[in-house]
Amino acid sequence: MDFVEHLKSSLDIVKVIGEYVRLKRAGSGPRYVGLCPFHTEKTPSFSVHQGHQFYKCFGCGAGGDVIRFVMEIERLSFFEALKLLAERYGIPMPQREYSDAETRLRAAVYRMHEIAAQVFRGHLEGPEGAEARRYLESRGVDPGIAAEFGLGLADRSGTDLVRRFEREGFSAEQMDASGLVLRREGGGFYDRFRGRLMFPIHSESGKVIAFAGRALSAEDEPKYMNSPETPIYRKSHVLYNLHRAKDAIRRLDRSILVEGYMDVIGLEAAGVRGVVASCGTALTASQVRLLRRHSENVVVNFDPDAAGGAAAERSIQVLLEEGLRVRVLELEDGLDPDEFVRRAGAEAYGDRLTKAPGYFYWLADRARAKYDVRTAEGRAGALRFLLPAVHRVSDRLERAAIASEIAAHLGVETGLLVEHFRKAAVQRSDQPLRQAVEPVRPVEKILLNALLASEEARRELIPQLRGMRQVAHFVTGRIFQALFALAESGQAFSFAALEGRLEERDRELLASVIFADETGEEACSLEQARACVARLAAEERAAQRAALRARVREAERAGDLAEALRLTEELNRLERSERRSGTVAGVVQ
Ligand code: UTP
Ligand code: MN
Repeated sequence: MDFVEHLKSSLDIVKVIGEYVRLKRAGSGPRYVGLCPFHTEKTPSFSVHQGHQFYKCFGCGAGGDVIRFVMEIERLSFFEALKLLAERYGIPMPQREYSDAETRLRAAVYRMHEIAAQVFRGHLEGPEGAEARRYLESRGVDPGIAAEFGLGLADRSGTDLVRRFEREGFSAEQMDASGLVLRREGGGFYDRFRGRLMFPIHSESGKVIAFAGRALSAEDEPKYMNSPETPIYRKSHVLYNLHRAKDAIRRLDRSILVEGYMDVIGLEAAGVRGVVASCGTALTASQVRLLRRHSENVVVNFDPDAAGGAAAERSIQVLLEEGLRVRVLELEDGLDPDEFVRRAGAEAYGDRLTKAPGYFYWLADRARAKYDVRTAEGRAGALRFLLPAVHRVSDRLERAAIASEIAAHLGVETGLLVEHFRKAAVQRSDQPLRQAVEPVRPVEKILLNALLASEEARRELIPQLRGMRQVAHFVTGRIFQALFALAESGQAFSFAALEGRLEERDRELLASVIFADETGEEACSLEQARACVARLAAEERAAQRAALRARVREAERAGDLAEALRLTEELNRLERSERRSGTVAGVVQ
């Protein structure tokens, strides 16, 4: 067995996907469902089949095996996904490097980030780090927290990392790609980060993929210097601290979204768990989807200044669009989360957190502050301000409930609002379009599921099914043909092997069949499949007889009596054998 097969058979897809998506078992069978991590939805159309080790989203079409899932969700190449799974689940991987140039480049850039993180840590802990350590202390970050977050210090010289990378033998191409060093005009490279406090940024699986460097003095601009996009870093797809926070986000069923790296660290240091930040960019839909996989509840806790308020407004729109339930925490006295928790303590913070109101109240308050709702123009302005947020609520009932709350809060006549929302409801399409597929008959579903489920069924039934004309006319006919061809090839049967022989549209069809509702385990028994085959065989023979009868009539009309007689005898033979097998079939059923 090759390594890929070995790896797949050592893993359970439900367990692997379960680390990213909250899956619920559908009934007592091998099927699990959850909210799709690859598109926005409110009702689960993402299904995982434990028996076939296969996932499929009937909303967006994503689907495949466990390796495909990890590739998609972690945005890894095939080889990287293998490596990640092998490492995470302790499956020894052969050393043989079967990777392409792209994968090798990424591996080098990962390695360079690992090295950089170590080098930065060394400087922070060494004698040259005294000033930076004092700064951290003044902000309440003790050495334990600094170590936990991997904080470091970039050397001032500008040649520190470059020299180290050269010693390690990284090529100019790798240096360029890393984003950690920059090309000097006269040739050669220099360090991007110099004399800055370094915050490593991790992927969801915990690898260092970028850095943010904070200035240690106020004159140093910009305040934060961030890694550029690299082959391993796309900032709009990463949330700071998610790898550390995700377990807590699931457990507590909520995340806290803050603006700054220091807010994350301050809160986590105080014992507040499940805190993330976007990395110096406006919040994106991809980042929200990362969050939603772990919990649908989020508390937005941005800085209390004007910029923070505006950023919160924008973020709320994106969060709502992706179907999250949003609350807003605004701390008193103009304190940001880091300052507040340091002054008031974790308990006070927790108290504010529990009391944080739904986003709508927060927005409505902002609207009241901006507009004079005692006047008609003011109310119209407030309405215009609030409508976009309401439009983005994807659930129609929720939208209606919010409409009346807003109306009450602003003292606006409900009728006017309802009219607005009705329009909005018409304009929105809540559900992703499902592909219209021809209906698959129950007999096809039962047979396919039984054949996929057991070797015994395949051995016994494939030879019987192979010659049947009706099978060729099944909606799933091509899947049956592929199944026959696979059996004939002598290749070991696996779901993946079957899939590999199908075109895209038939893969979709196969997925819809194995996840179909009426095919619980009890419905795919060998007994039932046998009964189906018997019924098909009977139909097949009936069709043959009807065809013969038609030919007899035709021969008679044409005056070819000899032929008519021959065909009639053939028909009689068939009918006699049918009566015999009819009694047999009756016994079976
Ligand atoms: P803040 O200025 O609030 O930073 O910017 P902070 O992390 O809270 O740090 P302290 O408390 O002032 O030390 C919020 C976030 O905006 C991004 C960073 O992600 C930062 O954490 N930012 C800010 C930048 O990317 N570049 C900048 O120059 C400033
Ligand atoms: Mn701040």
